[in-house]
Amino acid sequence: MGLAQIEQLLKLYPQRVVLVDEAYVDFGGDSAIPLIDQYPNLLVVHTLSKSRSLAGLRVGFACGQAPLIDALARVKNSFNSYPLDRLAIAGALAALKTTLTLSRPARR
Ligand SMILES: Cc1ncc(COP(=O)(O)O)c(C=O)c1O
Repeated sequence: MGLAQIEQLLKLYPQRVVLVDEAYVDFGGDSAIPLIDQYPNLLVVHTLSKSRSLAGLRVGFACGQAPLIDALARVKNSFNSYPLDRLAIAGALAALKTTLTLSRPARR
């Protein structure tokens, strides 16, 4: 689904959360993250399992406006039985810093 179609959904359903899974976006897609400022109902999720090769670490992250992120933070301990430990967080941050540079040639 392209960004134009995602924007159509966001406008059509402003009272619904539109979740965009960008697990593979580093391999060539266009990220919806730039749309977040315009749309409070947009939540974009990423995993470190694919382009960053860290499947075993079980780390991902969500991007959205503050109210959506706050809502996730409020309920996360009720649904996530495997909270992140410090080692995983350190590894994830290091990978994100490294991969942001390495993944540029793979982007369009
Ligand atoms: C489209 C898509 N989204 C999300 C995930 C979740 O990845 P993980 O649970 O390893 O973070 C996968 C994994 O295969 C996937 O294919």
